[in-house]
Amino acid sequence: MKIKIKIKRFNPNEGEESREPYFQLYNVEAGEGMTVLDALLKIADEDDPTLSFRRSCRSAICGSCAVSINGHAKLACKTQILPERHKFGEILVEPLANHAVMKDLIVDFSPFWNKMSRVTPYLTPPPGRQEQADDVKITPADEAAIDRAQTCIMCGACNSECNALEIDPEYIAPAALAKAWRFVGDVREGEKQKRLERLSMEHGMWDCVRCVHCTEYCPKDVRPLKEIELLRSAAIGRGITDNHGAKHVESMTQSVKRVGRLDEAAMTFKTLGFLRSLGMIPFGLKMELHGKMPMPLIFSQIEGMDEVKTIFDEIEEKKKEKE
Ligand code: SF4
Ligand code: SF4
Ligand code: FES
Repeated sequence: MKIKIKIKRFNPNEGEESREPYFQLYNVEAGEGMTVLDALLKIADEDDPTLSFRRSCRSAICGSCAVSINGHAKLACKTQILPERHKFGEILVEPLANHAVMKDLIVDFSPFWNKMSRVTPYLTPPPGRQEQADDVKITPADEAAIDRAQTCIMCGACNSECNALEIDPEYIAPAALAKAWRFVGDVREGEKQKRLERLSMEHGMWDCVRCVHCTEYCPKDVRPLKEIELLRSAAIGRGITDNHGAKHVESMTQSVKRVGRLDEAAMTFKTLGFLRSLGMIPFGLKMELHGKMPMPLIFSQIEGMDEVKTIFDEIEEKKKEKE
């Protein structure tokens, strides 16, 4: 069966007039089990050798073939053409989002690797020691804590789908954060405190807006958002709370504990401090006008506060059991 595949093309080295991205349509003979990568290879072999894309293992192992297929980041070698066409009615292949395009489907991975090195992607010995302790016993539970983070194949699909990275290119982004947990969560790591302090800085783990896309589109089930939550929780547990993210979490918890819901005005003051909050007043007034924020001065408790209290009591009980 012939299938139409639309591919976003771009060649910065072509003539002045063709330096803008454009879409090109290809007709490919497709059969059961054929992947998007098979189709790209067929096009390059039989139709258009100028089409550029990355690939290596063809087995969802190397991470090099990640592209956007019908609007979302996927591994081309793991995505079958026929089910995709059945679901979306067409096959649209574009380069990964949130990455600068070098040519056709090839994107610049330098920012990705730079962010990986920012999280020191190897174990570090405890302060004052040159070598890793070799007598640390690792239990199955210790291994399970970092197991998923270890399965990352560095494909960049999560970063492509990340809403926080879209608005801040400096944001460390989910792939590097999943890698960060792989070491912070490792019982052998000697510099957990230092790592968490660094991750709590601007453009770090607190900039995640919890859209869940990284977890939804990761082809290896790494669940970066889960790892971000573990990092945040570890940082708060170690007293690294002098930052907007941790203050926001604390003020949110206090607000729910006090009135059973979010008191946005009070939370803004507690998170940003008095002076920076003043700059938020026009925004707060707009929210007020659109009915998006309850009046801060007449903020009453919700009904059923006793149930909220029970939840907090249970959390405290569980914390004590763990200690
Ligand atoms: S959950 Fe956070 S890290 Fe993951 S894609 Fe959304 S904003 Fe990015
Ligand atoms: S976390 Fe998943 S989506 Fe992100 S780089 Fe690793 S394997 Fe790819
Ligand atoms: S070619 Fe290696 S993951 Fe697709």
